[in-house]
Amino acid sequence: MSNSTTDDSLITTEVQTDSNDGREAPAAGTAVAARDLDVFYGDEQAIDDVTMEIPEKRVTALIGPSGCGKSTFLRCINRMNDMIEICRVEGDVEFGGKNVYDPDVDPVALRRKIGMVFQKPNPFPKSIRDNVAYGLKIQDFDGDVDQRVEESLKGAALWDEVKDQLDSSGLELSGGQQQRLCIARAIAPDPEVILMDEPTSALDPVAASKIEDLIDDLAEEYTVIIVTHNMQQAARISDRTAVFLTGGELVEYDDTAKIFEDPEEQRVEDYITGKFG
Ligand SMILES: Nc1ncnc2c1ncn2[C@@H]1O[C@H](COP(=O)(O)OP(=O)(O)OP(=O)(O)O)[C@@H](O)[C@H]1O
Ligand SMILES: [Mg+2]
Repeated sequence: MSNSTTDDSLITTEVQTDSNDGREAPAAGTAVAARDLDVFYGDEQAIDDVTMEIPEKRVTALIGPSGCGKSTFLRCINRMNDMIEICRVEGDVEFGGKNVYDPDVDPVALRRKIGMVFQKPNPFPKSIRDNVAYGLKIQDFDGDVDQRVEESLKGAALWDEVKDQLDSSGLELSGGQQQRLCIARAIAPDPEVILMDEPTSALDPVAASKIEDLIDDLAEEYTVIIVTHNMQQAARISDRTAVFLTGGELVEYDDTAKIFEDPEEQRVEDYITGKFG
């Protein structure tokens, strides 16, 4: 690993002092930390000894070539990999001062705190209202559901477009609207972290740009961790960038400007400039 991926460069104070993103929120603490994380599918290792601290209320981008373990890493954070039988995780993922793999952690409760948005918009075949309210029903939310639905749709920059059709099917929306509906569904249970796996890659440029603007707004309130294949997107929207390369190695992790303008590692520069991957 390079100097920039040693623990020292990842401590929270560096995030505070080096943050060049202009966000007004005060210096961020750590939302999620991976420590010596290894992930295997059967005998195949997909994540190789990854240690990184992800700052809260910032956008952190995970980039790297296909198959380097970005989705696997993302899914470790809210234990979505639990669903994959052959997947084995070693090491820690800390969230709220606790290893999410501790036996007493309830994965369903964890996913309420760490929501997820996928590449392909996947609304349920239900009304717009019921899509957003879905997580609230599961958690026996005792507040005002309609109000939370409205807040969540506003938070996902979709309210104005759907407020008169809350009872129509989520599937009738455009792809970009469906993705914002999925974001509304993810934020309704009031999570702390939102994981996004290539959330704009199935969308046209206009819809993608709306989601990018939205991600920027979301980081005022949430920690956003986003996988993207789009370098410009990572450069535009993230505060920190983690570069994974083949074999599930975290090769460099730093402020986004540093990664894109002056990376420490030649392999990172080659990847970013399109020499491979
Ligand atoms: N469910 C699974 N079963 C077995 N192997 C898997 C599974 N999911 C991922 N892998 C393997 O783990 C490695 C990492 O895959 P992963 O999907 O995390 O990569 P990625 O960086 O997200 O790639 P992409 O950019 O193509 O989405 C790959 O070698 C992949 O084949
Ligand atoms: Mg992936």
